[in-house]
Amino acid sequence: MQKKYLMTPGPTPVPAEVLLTQAAPMIHHRTPDFSAAFMEAIDGLKYVFQTEASDVLIFASSGTGAMESSIANCFCAGDSVIVCRNGKFGDRMKQIAEVYGLNVIDLNYEWTQVVDPADVATALEENPGVRGVIVTQSETSSGVLNDVERIGAIVREYPDVVLIVDSITGIGAVECKTDEWGLDVVMTGSQKGLMLPPGLAAITVSEKAWRAYERSTLPKFYFDWKKYKKNLEKQTTPFTPAVSLVLGLNEALKMIRAEGIENVIARHARLAEATRKGCEALGLQLFAPPEGRGNAVTPVWVPDGVDGKAIVKIMKDKYGVTIAGGQDEYAGRIFRVGHLGYFGEFDIITTLAALEMTLAELGYEFERGAGIKAAEAVFMGA
Ligand SMILES: Cc1ncc(COP(=O)(O)O)c(C=O)c1O
Repeated sequence: MQKKYLMTPGPTPVPAEVLLTQAAPMIHHRTPDFSAAFMEAIDGLKYVFQTEASDVLIFASSGTGAMESSIANCFCAGDSVIVCRNGKFGDRMKQIAEVYGLNVIDLNYEWTQVVDPADVATALEENPGVRGVIVTQSETSSGVLNDVERIGAIVREYPDVVLIVDSITGIGAVECKTDEWGLDVVMTGSQKGLMLPPGLAAITVSEKAWRAYERSTLPKFYFDWKKYKKNLEKQTTPFTPAVSLVLGLNEALKMIRAEGIENVIARHARLAEATRKGCEALGLQLFAPPEGRGNAVTPVWVPDGVDGKAIVKIMKDKYGVTIAGGQDEYAGRIFRVGHLGYFGEFDIITTLAALEMTLAELGYEFERGAGIKAAEAVFMGA
């Protein structure tokens, strides 16, 4: 027997209570029972997204469905949008915008850089008529945290520009104040901070985003927001929902409410800090810059002379600890430790221990135990 640890930024571990809830016998979705569960889920998501003003819609899809819906529902072909990208998921937003025939004003950064809100302000000034600004809050490929609060303050001054935020690994891990920061569209996915299996996406739609919807002429059917909104008024969904996931979501939301969203975020901050300090104590270099590090995932440079793919493989095969490798051009050059969702202190200690044993096997020289000691110091506050 080998005990397994899933230390990736999605899918993430699912608590037993949530798993058990999903094993309940199926109920039909056109029933008062489902409607009650569905409205409870919407209400809980509003709490997590920190919104009262926006509508929350739930799709049976992965996160990319929500990303695509944000483009199809807010724009017309030929509209100009500013896409801020500093990683794989920003790249994906650009691809989707282009597939739908939008004119992309490309704010392209290195993966190790943070989006500069001043560049967004300049791009808006230089491109009158722009209809949207699109940004990834927590860039999972790089661990970079972009400052959507400051970008929100800039975009707020433009009544015809919607701010679309991919917070798929931000929600539940970092502060994301949808109403207070003026974020028009914010999205997440179930297999991330919501502690569920993959298969649900949720998205917020502000009044400004609904105005964009009314003007939008891009084709849409399954992801047509209005269909979801009309059905929401009848406490149901336009299409067959992922019933078991919605029931599981309520269980997860109960746990999040019991801890309190601020405490959930503070726990993530602590886990991220311990992971960073632990890796640094081993002499490893962090990938994301100090001014923009998120709490969902810690990407780390593979040290010189060590095989990056072997780190991931040995940790998984020999120690049962699954971490993520680098993506695209960073495959084999970085590894990523996820700590998003159902995680506690000893998941981090275990992972650092497995990392130390793996690095020792691969011939990397460091002080054994230093990573664990540094993480313990963060947890003990000493
Ligand atoms: C920031 C971010 N955006 C978008 C996605 C895409 O979500 P999905 O794989 O659920 O379609 C992910 C998934 O890892 C992500 O981390």
